[in-house]
Amino acid sequence: MADKTNAPLRIAAFASGRGSNIASILKHIEAGEINAKVVTIICNKSKAGAMELAKQHNIPSHHISHTHFEDFKAFSDHMLSVLEQYETDLVVLAGYMRKVPIEVVRAYKGRMLNIHPALLPSFGGQGLYGKNVHQAVLDYGAKVSGATVHIVDEEYDTGPPVCQKCVPVKCDDTVETLHQRVLKIEHEIYPQAIKYFADRCITIDGRKVVIKDD
Ligand code: GRF
Repeated sequence: MADKTNAPLRIAAFASGRGSNIASILKHIEAGEINAKVVTIICNKSKAGAMELAKQHNIPSHHISHTHFEDFKAFSDHMLSVLEQYETDLVVLAGYMRKVPIEVVRAYKGRMLNIHPALLPSFGGQGLYGKNVHQAVLDYGAKVSGATVHIVDEEYDTGPPVCQKCVPVKCDDTVETLHQRVLKIEHEIYPQAIKYFADRCITIDGRKVVIKDD
């Protein structure tokens, strides 16, 4: 990241679905609580709610699907060029249901975040996404669940955590009630994690994300 100490953090947000996490991040930015700007929203689905959200907030959006490219390299080069075009400081994955090309992950090492709807390293990894995660938590009989914002590395859900928060799992929970309880805290901890980056108070020491004044 170039040294632009007081400049708003330039965020590229990726989503595949409704985009409620992006909406929450935008709410905190627009309230002046985070020194950041969502410079683009990138979706792999043209009908994603997040595309509509971009329109409502006058944010340029891009529908980028690997199916539009002759090979994976062309796809990943295009994604990188879009991110560079917006001078992206931080990539924020918010319900983006595809693996980001490895070249993009490497280019944004330490500057790409994801949110997972459980307390990693439990209930993470390939196949554990969306409501499957909450079903797995209920099937296991866990008494707590939660959400994790983590740095993205080259595997599924294995990068170091930036923020985590717990919620109770109740005896009468369904996938839907647990999902709603977890989503509520996702909307708190994702803006919080982004604020740490915007305030430039994060350093990464191996697996430890150190937050100054924490
Ligand atoms: C969230 O539950 C998030 O944890 C997961 O995908 C979902 C996205 O929801 N990665 P939304 O599109 O932000 O509403």
